Amino acid sequence: MEPIPILKGRRIILGVTGGIAAYKAADLASKLTQAGAQVDVVMTAAATRFVTSLTFHALTGRPVWTDWWAPTPETAIPHVTLGEVAELVVIAPATANFLAKMAHGLADDLLSALCLSTRAPILVAPAMDVGMWGHPATQENVERLRSRGVAIAGPAYGRMASGLEGWGRMVEPMELLGHIRRILGREGPLAGKHVVVTAGPTYEPIDPVRFIGNRSSGRQGFALAQAALDRGAEVVLITGPVTLETPVGARRIDVGTAAEMAEAVWRECAEADVLLMAAAVADYRPAQMQPLKIKKGAALSLELTSTVDILEGVAARRAERGKPRVVVGFAAETGDVLRNAQTKLQAKGLDLIVANDVTEPGAGFAVETNRVTLIDAHGRVEPLPLMSKAAVAEAILDRVVQLLKE
Ligand code: CTP
Repeated sequence: MEPIPILKGRRIILGVTGGIAAYKAADLASKLTQAGAQVDVVMTAAATRFVTSLTFHALTGRPVWTDWWAPTPETAIPHVTLGEVAELVVIAPATANFLAKMAHGLADDLLSALCLSTRAPILVAPAMDVGMWGHPATQENVERLRSRGVAIAGPAYGRMASGLEGWGRMVEPMELLGHIRRILGREGPLAGKHVVVTAGPTYEPIDPVRFIGNRSSGRQGFALAQAALDRGAEVVLITGPVTLETPVGARRIDVGTAAEMAEAVWRECAEADVLLMAAAVADYRPAQMQPLKIKKGAALSLELTSTVDILEGVAARRAERGKPRVVVGFAAETGDVLRNAQTKLQAKGLDLIVANDVTEPGAGFAVETNRVTLIDAHGRVEPLPLMSKAAVAEAILDRVVQLLKE
């Protein structure tokens, strides 16, 4: 896992309570630490029956708190000082018993006392047997916590350790990481801003089983959505067919064709502050979709016609309404990159264009990395080195924040 700017140096308390999902908390602790957070783990006595404190100590490189009464080097009153420095308290897994204690303000061990004394936001990831989760007592406790502003992630549906199936599994660490980013980012520079992101290819049907498409994986667009969420934005992610998990907090709209994408983008942009148009929209579609599968035969020619240019439609609407304030386009080029990108920036009325040479190794479609050049409407040109798509997204969003200020 590479460093994640929103997590860098952030102080997170990871509270682990006694359920079998405690082993997943070790993975979460590892991911948070790798991402750059400073993670202090507090375990209940029951949690130590499932995983040892040594595991968390090794993964976080920090002391692990298991005993309220043990003499401590860092602080004399751990439940108070830990709670004070924390920017977020995450309880994962949270057992039914622990949720009940939180709901009623009990403080009979270090973790429950810390939950009571801290003023940091609290995120809980319930994990328990189906019956315990469904019980009215648990449901009432969860509602009570929710109404107090505690964030609840999950539980997920699936197979339990007991062999039963149902609601009660702890959400996966990657998803929890998404919830954590959302909470830590909510007062970021894009708080209150509406950001529309497009991602992936479009598929233009030839017949019921075939289509014209392209190699876009959607990764760059999804990374942009995540970077916008990390800065506190409300994010709508309009995506063509891809196989990626939706970033936590984004509202996702799935589309197939360029025409469907256009309709969704124009509708969502009416109230948006920013549009990030990362989708690789097909430029041509079959003039006619054949209602039945085309049978094999000799040579076949297809008549193609242009798809709608989505950004042109955005520019026309923007001229009337002034929204979105900032429009960012992408230019996938295979030669004369800068000049082509500059022409597109002007023709499509963009504030910023992200140009890349898709023939370069490590750039463009279906890879984890990208090498792009940012060009703005004032002619400022900023070439970025080869980096992950997440890092490219961070750089683009930093520019968007600037553009919104200008
Ligand atoms: N785009 C769009 N509608 C289309 C095609 C592209 O809004 N029908 C957007 C893309 O999402 C991208 C930008 O326009 O942000 C440039 O896309 P690109 O494929 O590089 O350029 P085209 O306009 O398609 O021009 P060409 O294919 O000739 O390079």
